[in-house]
Amino acid sequence: MTSYHGGAFFDAIGNEFDSLDQIDEVISADVLDAWFPPSPQVSRILGQLLDWAMRTSPPTGSEGLTNRIAETRGVGKRSVLPGAGSSNLIFQAFREWLSAESRILLLEPTYGEYAHVAENVVGCRVDRLTLSPDDGFRVDTARLLEPLSRGYDLAAIVNPNNPTGRHIPRRDLIDVLSRVSPRTLVWIDETYVDYVDAGESLEQFAATSENVIVSKSMSKVYALSGLRVGYLCGPPGLIDPLRRLTPPWAVSLPGQIAAVTALQDAEYYRRRYDETHCLREQLRESLLALADFRIVPGVANYLLCQLPADGPTARTFISCCRSEKLFLRDASATASSLDNRWFRIAVKDGDTNRRMVDIISHYTRKPY
Ligand SMILES: Cc1ncc(COP(=O)(O)O)c(C=O)c1O
Repeated sequence: MTSYHGGAFFDAIGNEFDSLDQIDEVISADVLDAWFPPSPQVSRILGQLLDWAMRTSPPTGSEGLTNRIAETRGVGKRSVLPGAGSSNLIFQAFREWLSAESRILLLEPTYGEYAHVAENVVGCRVDRLTLSPDDGFRVDTARLLEPLSRGYDLAAIVNPNNPTGRHIPRRDLIDVLSRVSPRTLVWIDETYVDYVDAGESLEQFAATSENVIVSKSMSKVYALSGLRVGYLCGPPGLIDPLRRLTPPWAVSLPGQIAAVTALQDAEYYRRRYDETHCLREQLRESLLALADFRIVPGVANYLLCQLPADGPTARTFISCCRSEKLFLRDASATASSLDNRWFRIAVKDGDTNRRMVDIISHYTRKPY
């Protein structure tokens, strides 16, 4: 059993990559990969070195990448553990820290992998703090503190949350974390935080804490999803044992080169995040002009939307869009708290957003 993920667009491209000519036809708005390319420095260096990078064993423990992350984020090297994407690190850490007797707390809705690993891989109990569409799925930190004080073994907080796109400001979250018992591990997933501001990250706080671990994917904000790079940042007492469980060469050489180079081009990425905010607002306005969607005010590269009450279900709507090669995510399929009219759409470049809105307009004009 695996968790439900996007990526259905590979049905159109072929899992053996036999219809790669379809890449420009298919719109993969069911996954949250960056709409922009990696930094030009990354593309240049990998373009020059690809043959060598493919045939050469990488630094065994991603030592240079660890140094670069530590320096860029202002934390000690022993606080940083790179891995082949943050998914890999979630599996590695949760299987080490949790057992069938553990109890964990999640937000609902949130990224489905956490419930999957806890319930289906580790086999432990999951409690959920259900967020409400009525206040746009905002996480009220006072409400969060209450269950957090009930002695959970671990709580995972995705911030900004996926699929809602809502963000808890750093200072509010630090206020909550400072009151949590050190016996509860708190996992903060910051896959999308750079879209808000790199300064909103809790990496430095986690590195000097007893019980806080920040999970950073380099997929979505550095446009490196295909290369599989991520890392954990936390106190050495939690990171060191995980490092011992990390196989050699965990991150590929192209992945290590790309990540080290991307971390040095913060200015390029910052411009891309600024553009993302404009593109997201344009997409939001265009969708609202089509129908009475309820759209959550997200801060990252995606929008959580609810179809009008008298409209089609998300399932029907998504399958109609799919017939025109637009792939969207059925949010209700992964979150029991969402009714059957919620879908999530990734923000793309301006032309692709216009194509998406055009396709969507075919299925939102009344009568549905
Ligand atoms: C919130 C969140 N965390 C983690 C991941 C996994 O990212 P990766 O394994 O590419 O680092 C994703 C991917 O969609 C995500 O949305």
